[in-house]
Amino acid sequence: MNDSAASCRIDPLRLQSLLGQAAGRFAVEALPECVSTSSQLLEHARQGAPAGSLLVADRQTGGRGRRGRSWLSTPEDSLTFSLLWRFDGGVARLAGLSLAVGLAVARALENCRVPGVGLKWPNDILLGGGKLGGILVDLESGTDGMLAVIGIGLNLRLPPAGDEEFLHPPAALAQVMAYLPDRHQLLAQLMIDLAAVLDRFADGGFALLRGDWQARHVWQNRPVRLLDGERVDRTGLCLGADSDGALLLQTDAGVERCFSGDVSLRLPG
Ligand code: BTN
Repeated sequence: MNDSAASCRIDPLRLQSLLGQAAGRFAVEALPECVSTSSQLLEHARQGAPAGSLLVADRQTGGRGRRGRSWLSTPEDSLTFSLLWRFDGGVARLAGLSLAVGLAVARALENCRVPGVGLKWPNDILLGGGKLGGILVDLESGTDGMLAVIGIGLNLRLPPAGDEEFLHPPAALAQVMAYLPDRHQLLAQLMIDLAAVLDRFADGGFALLRGDWQARHVWQNRPVRLLDGERVDRTGLCLGADSDGALLLQTDAGVERCFSGDVSLRLPG
C-alpha cells in the first residue's frame, strides 16, 4: 500500500484499471511536470477536450491557488490534478459547484479510511484544523453549455515549512495514517466519488448535496466572523451553506447570505 518517491508518477493504465464501472468516463493524461494542470486543461477544454479529461502532474511550476495565490507542491508528497467536466445550461446552474467538489473529496478520503476530514466554507479540505487540500474551479462558457476545470491539490506528506503565515497551517495524510493510501487507489477513488457527486449536481444542483456537506462543515452552528480583506465585516452564527452555496449567517439583523468572492471565514477572537 505504501508509495515511494520513485513511484510517484501516475500510470494512466493502472489508474483506469482501478476505476471499475467509471473507467469509460475518464481520459487520463499524466505528466512529470507542467506549469499548472488547471491552466493546461483549460487550454485543452477550449480546443474541445471531452468531459472526464483528467490531467495529473507530479510537479507544477506555477500551480494556482484561490485569490491569486500560488499553490506549491512537491512530487512525492502531494497529489495535484485537474478534471474537466461539462454542464448543460448557464453559469447560474453551477452555483455551489466548488462546495459539491469538496464533498466529493471528503467522501473519497473517507472511503480511503482517512479519519477526521472536515470541510470549511467555501472549499477548504481540513484535517485536524490544518489545510489538507484545496480546490480551485475555473468556469467558462463552452460551445454548448458550461465547462468547469476542477483543480485539486492534496498533501500526502507535509510540505517543507515556508515563511508564509496561514490561517490553517498545512496538514497531510501522513499525520493521521501509518500507511499512506496508494496514490493510484486514492486518485481512482477521488474520480469515482467526483463522478457520482457531479452527476447528482447536474441533476439538481448543490441543494441535493447540501445536507451531506453541512454534516462535514467544521464550523457549522458555531459563532464566526467574516473578513473582508483584513476588516471584520460581520459576525454571527454560521448556519452553513444555502442551496446555491452562499454562506448563511445568523446576525442580529436576521439571516444574511454571503458569497465566497467577497469574504473569508474565521472563528471569533
Ligand atoms: C486553494 O488555494 O485552496 C486552491 C488550490 C488548488 C490547487 C490545485 S493543484 C492542481 C490544480 N492546478 C492548479 O494550478 N491549481 C489546482
